[in-house]
Amino acid sequence: AAPPPTSQSVYDTFLLCLTKQTKSPTQLNDIVFSQTNPSFSSVLQNYIRNSRLNTTSTLKPLIIVTPLKKSHVQGVVICAKSIGIQIKIRSGGHDYEGLSYISDKPFIILDLFNLNNVSVDIEKQTAVIQAGATLGEVYYRIWEKSKVHGFPAGVCPTVGVGGHISGAGYGNMVRKYGLSVDNVIDAQVVDVKGILLDRKSMGEDLFWAIRGGGGASFGVVLSYTIKLVPVPETVTVFRVMKTLEENATDLVVEWQKVAPTTDDRLFMRLLLQPVTSTTVEGNKTVRASVVALFLGGADEVVSLMGKEFPTLGLKKENCNETSWIGSVLWWSDNDAFNNGAKPKTLLDRKLNSARFGKRKSDYVQKPISRDGLEGIWKKLIEQGKVGFVFNPYGGKMAQIASDATPFPHRAGNLFKMQYSVTWDDPSEAATQNFLTQARKLYSYMTPFVSQNPRSAYLNYRDLDIGINHFGANSFEEGQVYGTKYFNNNFDRLVKIKAAVDPENFFRNEQSIPVKA
Ligand code: FDA
Repeated sequence: AAPPPTSQSVYDTFLLCLTKQTKSPTQLNDIVFSQTNPSFSSVLQNYIRNSRLNTTSTLKPLIIVTPLKKSHVQGVVICAKSIGIQIKIRSGGHDYEGLSYISDKPFIILDLFNLNNVSVDIEKQTAVIQAGATLGEVYYRIWEKSKVHGFPAGVCPTVGVGGHISGAGYGNMVRKYGLSVDNVIDAQVVDVKGILLDRKSMGEDLFWAIRGGGGASFGVVLSYTIKLVPVPETVTVFRVMKTLEENATDLVVEWQKVAPTTDDRLFMRLLLQPVTSTTVEGNKTVRASVVALFLGGADEVVSLMGKEFPTLGLKKENCNETSWIGSVLWWSDNDAFNNGAKPKTLLDRKLNSARFGKRKSDYVQKPISRDGLEGIWKKLIEQGKVGFVFNPYGGKMAQIASDATPFPHRAGNLFKMQYSVTWDDPSEAATQNFLTQARKLYSYMTPFVSQNPRSAYLNYRDLDIGINHFGANSFEEGQVYGTKYFNNNFDRLVKIKAAVDPENFFRNEQSIPVKA
């Protein structure tokens, strides 16, 4: 058998190939990093966003390539394919299971952080956003040009465009404007042959697939062209918190009725967290926090909530009226907003800052009863740390057909649940403890959530729901997680995959499988 490739041998072969492919040897030394390059570690770590996937035993990439232009990306695909080494594509590095920067087989990271241009055209109400841009950069560049335009995408400014939009993308305007992918009108992709394609040349099938089917199964997304959406000059944000002693259960019963059906300008996220009681000493309780964005003024939302959601007890003094970009800052960091953070802070990429975490997801289609909730409170308190984030649907989400994009979870879903646990203790015992907590809670929730399939959100990557080992059962393995992420859209994704990448070069632990 041939000896396993070393970082240096792959570096040498790769650089030679890339020089030939790009016909411009300048810069190449600066964008290809072998393990012995003094910058290798920092380039690798800068966009690792989950410390759980950054242990000393985690396999490191043989090389990292950080393209400065499109032709570099084309060259990387051609050269990696010719050497026969898998690539992992990274844009913002926020994959919850680190699939953009880890692998158990020798691999190369194609890191797109340099391809981060955002060009906004207010006249046309569009923007071309490169995969390596962050959402914060997208929001900031829109705001620079217009105070009455925005874009519906995630609430964390450091999330990358490439992973986020290829995996669907939602944020606090999802009830008014749908997902990020519902507002994408063109894209540029490098395919498995290294050819640069746009919507017209890739065709509607591939264009459909990269709007929610996960880019990493189909090619390298270089950019998306997005449609901007109108936002009012003044919007309102608020947060209301109640513990079980303050009738949080009533609040959650009512939230399930109101949040998915109210005015689609209103998005009310619900956070549920086990906490220590402040009223009964030593007691554990659950805190419910409603965190909201209303695309309108405070008087209007206070009056609306008075009628529809009296248990919330919303008062004008709970509300903050601000600009849309102000609401982005408030959602990303409450304290910073209160301390006068400026829009420029959205450009901060917060390199090399990660905590330990695990996320899982579920969809709820029938309201959970009061008895059901009381059982869940007990479980949250017993487990001690895992919490929930409920994100209401309805509005625009219920008006878009479930096969319009690969993301299938539309009408009929009241809300999506995220299971969330974040910690700082680096010990293996802590990791095992929190992973077990999350998995136990997931198992407990079975009667309350979608069945056949038990659905999940691709961007809340969760390897517990199935992994591909690329052996004889690769297709069947892919079907397990694939139907959970994509329901009935899985079959179309399989057909597109077979057409655009039949040899399965673009793959990862949860990519769209190829039939043997
Ligand atoms: P990353 O670079 O890790 O890529 C994720 C996946 O996409 C990997 O499989 C990768 O290979 C692939 N990929 C990346 N770039 C590609 C490209 N150019 N072409 C092809 N494939 C590519 N989600 C949400 O919908 N709303 C939200 O509000 C949030 N908030 C949030 C906060 C925080 C702190 C985290 C860590 C995550 C979220 N998410 C989220 C989830 C987020 O949308 C999801 O992790 C995205 O895939 C992240 O995209 P990145 O480019 O940052 O990740």
